[in-house]
Amino acid sequence: MTTQAEPRPVQPGTDTSGVPFRITDPGRVPSQRYVSPEFSRLEKEKLWPHVWQMACRLEEIPRPGDFTEYKIGDQSILVVRESEDSVKAYFNACRHRATALGVGSGTFHGGQIVCPYHGWRWNLDGSNSYVYAQRGFKPGCLDADFLKLRECQVGTLFGMVFINMDPAAPPLHEAMAGIAEALAPIGFERMRVRWWRHVVLPANWKIAQEAFMEAYHVMQAHPSLAMGMSDEDFDVDSFAGEFECFPGGHAHSLPLSEMKVPVQGMSAAEYFVQYNNALYFGTDAYATEREMFIQQGLLERDIEPEQFPAAFFQALYDYAAGAGIALPPPAQNTSGYGHIFPNITVLPAYGNSIIYRVRPNGDNPESCIFEVWAVQIPAEGDEPGQPELEGPIPVDDWPQILKEDFYNILAQQQGLRTQGSDELVLSESYEAMIVNNHRTIDEYLAR
Ligand code: FES
Ligand SMILES: [Fe+2]
Repeated sequence: MTTQAEPRPVQPGTDTSGVPFRITDPGRVPSQRYVSPEFSRLEKEKLWPHVWQMACRLEEIPRPGDFTEYKIGDQSILVVRESEDSVKAYFNACRHRATALGVGSGTFHGGQIVCPYHGWRWNLDGSNSYVYAQRGFKPGCLDADFLKLRECQVGTLFGMVFINMDPAAPPLHEAMAGIAEALAPIGFERMRVRWWRHVVLPANWKIAQEAFMEAYHVMQAHPSLAMGMSDEDFDVDSFAGEFECFPGGHAHSLPLSEMKVPVQGMSAAEYFVQYNNALYFGTDAYATEREMFIQQGLLERDIEPEQFPAAFFQALYDYAAGAGIALPPPAQNTSGYGHIFPNITVLPAYGNSIIYRVRPNGDNPESCIFEVWAVQIPAEGDEPGQPELEGPIPVDDWPQILKEDFYNILAQQQGLRTQGSDELVLSESYEAMIVNNHRTIDEYLAR
C-alpha cells in the first residue's frame, strides 16, 4: 500500500457521474450531501445494505446464547453468540409471520431462539428446531431450508463484531485490507469497555463523525488542548500529521516523525502534563486514572522537564508489566487516529481508546445516533463486566472536550441548511480522511 498524503482518486472503473451531489473536486464537498433527503435515501439503499459495519463489541455477548440487536435504517439484525468462538447474525424476523425474535439485548436460554407469537424455535446456528402443531401446515411447505433464519455475513476484528447484509459483499478481511494491518499494533482486541454512552444529535451522521476525523479544529475548538498554539505552531509535522488512505474508505494518521512541543515557550513537561490533564478531565477516556496516577507520581520527583515524557512512558510500562497489563509496544504508531469506513473513528493512546460510531437516526438526514465507547486494556483478572449503554445523554452533560465538539456539530448543521452554504472547502492535508470517506460513499452510490 502506498503512502498518500492526499486523498486517493475514485477507484478506476467506477463511474460516479450519476450520483447526485457527488465529489468532483477532492477539496470540495457539496452541502447537500448532509441535508438532502434524496442523498440520504440513496445511502439507505446503496450504502448501508452493502457495507461492513460494526454491529457490537464482543463483550456485549460473552456467553453462548447472548444476543444483541443492531439497527440501521429500517433493518434489525440479531447478533448471537453461538459458541465460545463463533458469532452469528440473523435478520430479526420470524420465518412464520415475521415477528421480531429479540429486542435490545439479552440471552436466548437453553440455546433456543423462541418466537414470542406462536412459539416457533431455532437453534443458535439458525436451524429450525420446532414448529408448533406443524400438521396444520401444507405438507412440504415448511422445509428445513425455508425455515432457517435468514443470515447476514459476520466477522470479528479489533474486538468488534461486523455484519454485512449483502451476501455478495467481499469477506470482512478483504474489506478491511490496509486498515486491519495499520491498526493492529494498537491492541484493540485486548481492550475492554470502561463506559459506553450515546447522544442523539440533530445533525447528519457524516458531519457528526467528521468532527473527530481531523485535528485541525483543536486550535479554536479546544482551548484546553491548544494551550495558545499559534498558526506557525500548527504545522503538519508537529501536530496535524499525515494520513494513509485506503481504497475501502478507511484511513489512519501516520506516526509523527518526531515528538515536538507544539506551543512556544512551554517545556516538554508542562505541555505533556497539561495535555494529559485536559484529556482526562475533558474526555474521561483518552487519558484515565491509570495515567494520571503515574503522572502524579513523577511530578513528585525531580525530573528534567525535557525528560518528562520519556520518564512517563518508562513508568507506565514498568507499572503495566507489574500489573499484567498487555500494553501495545511503545511505538508511535500505537496512537494517532483511525477511521474504519463508513462510520467508526478511533483515537487510541496509552492502551486506551475512544471509539465513535455514528448512524443515521431513521430517515431524517439531519438526525444521528452518536455512540462513544471508552475502552482500555485491563490488568490481568480485572476485566470489567458486560457493558451497558448509557443515555441518551444531553449535550450539556458530556465532558468538556466532547461538549465542545458536539456544539460545533450542531452549529455546522445549522449553517449547512442555509443558503449561505453550497459547498465545504477541505484541506487535502488536514482533512484528507474526510474526503476519502466521501469518495468511497460515492463509489457505493454509483453501483
Ligand atoms: S410469527 Fe413467529 S411463530 Fe408465528
Ligand atoms: Fe474535537
